[in-house]
Amino acid sequence: MNLPIATLERPGTADRAEFRNAVLAGLGATPRAIPARFLYDARGSALFDAICELPEYYLTRTETEILGRCAAEVAQRAGPDCALVEFGSGSSVKSRLLLDAMPDLDAYVPIDISREHLDGTAARLRRDYPRLRVEPVSADYMVLDSLPAFINGARRIGFFPGSTIGNLTPEEATAFLRRARRLLRDDGALILGIDLKKDPQRLHDAYNDAAGVTAQFTLNLLRRMNRELDANFDLAAFAHEAFYNPAEGRIEIYFRSLRPQSVTVAGRRFSFAEGERVHTEYSYKYDDAGIAALAGSGGFTITKAWTDPERLFAVAWLQATA
Ligand SMILES: C[S@@+](CC[C@H](N)C(=O)[O-])C[C@H]1O[C@@H](n2cnc3c(N)ncnc32)[C@H](O)[C@@H]1O
Repeated sequence: MNLPIATLERPGTADRAEFRNAVLAGLGATPRAIPARFLYDARGSALFDAICELPEYYLTRTETEILGRCAAEVAQRAGPDCALVEFGSGSSVKSRLLLDAMPDLDAYVPIDISREHLDGTAARLRRDYPRLRVEPVSADYMVLDSLPAFINGARRIGFFPGSTIGNLTPEEATAFLRRARRLLRDDGALILGIDLKKDPQRLHDAYNDAAGVTAQFTLNLLRRMNRELDANFDLAAFAHEAFYNPAEGRIEIYFRSLRPQSVTVAGRRFSFAEGERVHTEYSYKYDDAGIAALAGSGGFTITKAWTDPERLFAVAWLQATA
């Protein structure tokens, strides 16, 4: 079946007013921070795809290899006529491994905050899977409270790859999982891709690539503020900063001012001292016990997990707990 792309408007869609309010609040706060979801405008989404190809960024390669190995078993666990619901679908590259293994899937529902990117991705999927119903939802999955009604009769299998859950604090991750648990219902499950704790140098390198693509991804947020919020950030006067914080078990990412300066954003002036940072992203890393505790706190039980020989990354089947 090949239906027109129905991109649903939902509260929480990252429109310009929401971006402006979040940026003004974040730059006015102490310490300064801008939520990571705003990194993904069309250019940010394309840069993220480029990051996934980097030699240092083992996450995508490893998760793809694991999914390739476990897709048939995932399909078997899901059963026929279910709906695959992806949270933060991006370019839906990994989902294709599951779509290929699930020929009798009822529908694919990619959810992403980056609307332009989502529409392009959905169009490509509809071209490549002409018999699959693709129903994109442009929304913030942290506030989404319903899914398209036409999947009501299908078992709902969630997919949250890319260790995107690592961008959430543990409290946010629990809130996300509880929400996903409600959306996926009692007979649902969630396939979760999650990055594992490992050698800090390996982690550091993954977020400080030699080609500087991750730096461009972070600084793209300044470019977006210049374009959408009439800001005047000098991109050469700020730098990307990423490091592993072992006590918190997370990579922390910031943009840092290279000199004392002031910047106007949406008509408001903000001063930056030399070295002052604005937080943009966390990437939490988990161990087995941490993943099990997280799943339990969200109303799920891990019934199967797959990993790679080096134990860099894990894909887990989270079954909704009764
Ligand atoms: C790390 S990328 C992962 C993309 C893809 N799932 C993969 O594994 O390659 C995160 C994706 O989630 C989307 N995203 C981030 N925060 C979001 C939010 N709060 N609501 C909806 N989408 C979000 C971004 O636009 C981006 O496409």
